[in-house]
Amino acid sequence: MIIAIDGPAASGKGTLGKRLAAHYHFRHLDTGVIYRAVAKALIDAGADPADEARAVAAAHELDPEKFGHPALKTRAIGEAASVVSAFPGVREALLTFQRQFAAEPPGAVLDGRDIGTVICPNADVKIFVVADPVVRARRRTLEARSRGEDVDEAVVLADILKRDERDRNRPVAPLRAAADAHVLDNSNLDIEAGLMAAIAIVEAMKVARLHK
Ligand code: DC
Repeated sequence: MIIAIDGPAASGKGTLGKRLAAHYHFRHLDTGVIYRAVAKALIDAGADPADEARAVAAAHELDPEKFGHPALKTRAIGEAASVVSAFPGVREALLTFQRQFAAEPPGAVLDGRDIGTVICPNADVKIFVVADPVVRARRRTLEARSRGEDVDEAVVLADILKRDERDRNRPVAPLRAAADAHVLDNSNLDIEAGLMAAIAIVEAMKVARLHK
């Protein structure tokens, strides 16, 4: 079974993906870290994230062993990831890795921006997670502060809005809900309640499949 979770920055899709995968004993891939790793490779090499040729080269040389690096989570890397991810060559280079990950047993949960629309259009369950931008900014701020990053909530909100705008309006694989995605608004749900709502969606899909 493949579960595709998409949604905007800081919507809680990563946490949900991780928890949902643990619940079903599936593998989990936060695809944002892949684009973040490309961005970090460029920044570490002193290159501009807007340099398309270097971004594509970095995407081809990516080392999945580095996906757990804590520096990938910073705001600056997130912003640069949004820039590199708009390049078609970068997305193309990362496609096979994501599809292979999704296809391996026993099942997988992938979260990102284009999982239900481009990477796994035939996913068994598609969930599109949304949350009020103010709520997302609040969560991201608390998360960054807990890592010791000194951040201003208003700046975080402005960043989130800018990133939403860029991710939604890029010509290649823009952020949008697949036609068959279930929209899950977690503005007023905590992590546990969001997980329960997602499990209810998966279980309903399983039942619906049995009756097909
Ligand atoms: O989910 P995140 O904040 O870690 O993602 C960082 C950036 O990577 C995001 O702004 C857009 C890009 N991204 C993407 O284009 N496609 C994905 N499947 C995942 C992330």
